[in-house]
Amino acid sequence: MVMLFFVFLFMLSEQNVTFTMHGLLGMAPNKVYCAVILLFFFCGAASVSNRNQKAELVVNASGGRQIPETFFGIFFEEINHAGAGGFWAELVSNRGFEAVRQNKSLNIHPWSLIGDESSIIVSTDRSSCFKRNKIALRMEVLCDGDTCPVGRVGVYNPGFWGMDIKQGKIYKIVFYLRSLTSVNISVSFTSSDGLRTLANTNLIASAGDVSNWTKMETLLEAEETNPNARLQLKTSKKGVMWIDQVSAIPLDTYKSHGFRNDLSEMIANLKPRFLRFPGGNFVGGDLLRNAFRWKDTVGPWEERPGHFNDAWNYWTDDGLGYFEFLQLSEDLGALPIWVFNNGMSNLGREKASNVSLFVQV
Ligand SMILES: *[C@@H]1O[C@H](CO)[C@@H](O)[C@H](O)[C@H]1NC(C)=O
Ligand SMILES: *[C@@H]1O[C@H](CO)[C@@H](O)[C@H](O)[C@H]1NC(C)=O
Ligand SMILES: *[C@@H]1O[C@H](CO)[C@@H](O)[C@H](O)[C@H]1NC(C)=O
Ligand SMILES: *[C@@H]1O[C@H](CO)[C@@H](O)[C@H](O)[C@H]1NC(C)=O
Ligand SMILES: *[C@@H]1O[C@H](CO)[C@@H](O)[C@H](O)[C@H]1NC(C)=O
Repeated sequence: MVMLFFVFLFMLSEQNVTFTMHGLLGMAPNKVYCAVILLFFFCGAASVSNRNQKAELVVNASGGRQIPETFFGIFFEEINHAGAGGFWAELVSNRGFEAVRQNKSLNIHPWSLIGDESSIIVSTDRSSCFKRNKIALRMEVLCDGDTCPVGRVGVYNPGFWGMDIKQGKIYKIVFYLRSLTSVNISVSFTSSDGLRTLANTNLIASAGDVSNWTKMETLLEAEETNPNARLQLKTSKKGVMWIDQVSAIPLDTYKSHGFRNDLSEMIANLKPRFLRFPGGNFVGGDLLRNAFRWKDTVGPWEERPGHFNDAWNYWTDDGLGYFEFLQLSEDLGALPIWVFNNGMSNLGREKASNVSLFVQV
């Protein structure tokens, strides 16, 4: 920052603009109160200038041209989880267990185990019913009923930085399940230590109903507010089950299209006439193979492969994709401006043959 200021100052004094600044302020340098650091720097530079020199800037505000309304808009950039974990209301992070591809040591991060290895074994395999995201979570429950720990066993997802659960709000939970036996799965929001239950429901299904992949859906109404909650999937029934594509999203989203209401209202109040998306570096990727590919971000969310956003170093499930941005533009009454990849990555080390994949739309 400081270096930038210096460069700026250097340029100003080179062109003698500091004198003009002075004249504009209309005060002698010793009378100028420097309230902000930037001004302080200006003052420092100005003290070497000629005190008597004056300049005038006249702005003629009559006439002019009408500025088109479409000049005012907003630029959305997927950076620091602005979308995945931010503006997009999905609460579950790594909902398809696919982030494993990018970082083997992290495995199912940020999912974690409830229970110890003598009562449950959790692993991943490639048995999902979704072709483009084959990884599923496999849970083998070794304990049964009373032999299970009191709190039951399973997995939890803390969301991005803890889930912001609000009393009275209703959340839609969806996940895909396959099991070798009948199931009784507790789906709940709890405090970050798992001790306080904010909402709970038990999903019960016979072995026949879940012997193949089945979509499970339920609504959870929070009885308490907790800004640092987590989603838990637990059981105390012995057996082996597979879980994939877990989603938890509040029912009330902006025009029911999945964006957070509070942030969307603020954005709508800006009355943007265009929406530029989905990002800057996010579009190129550090490496082209990690760039945003619009074709992978349309269609049913469960079937989207997700991708590793290497520009900012996190996984995104791509639930917020090309389609959702178009929808948001429409909902805001803004023109969509899609920043498309022209075959460039941030590091720019690409083979020409790799580029065509992006250029052909
Ligand atoms: C300001 O601009 C208008 C329109 O261009 C012009 O008619 C007028 O003479 C200008 N006024 C001055 C003080 O220059
Ligand atoms: C990969 O895993 C390591 C070890 O757990 C961790 O330090 C690192 O931050 C992870 N990288 C990404 C991109 O998640
Ligand atoms: C499901 O599990 C819960 C908690 O252990 C239990 O209270 C409930 O009776 C079970 N339901 C069935 C149908 O087994
Ligand atoms: C299981 O479901 C998949 C689709 O999810 C389907 O292709 C397959 O035929 C089903 N298998 C059986 C045995 O029903
Ligand atoms: C080109 O793409 C392939 C497949 O994604 C990748 O393995 C390879 O490293 C890429 N080449 C360059 C130079 O990035």
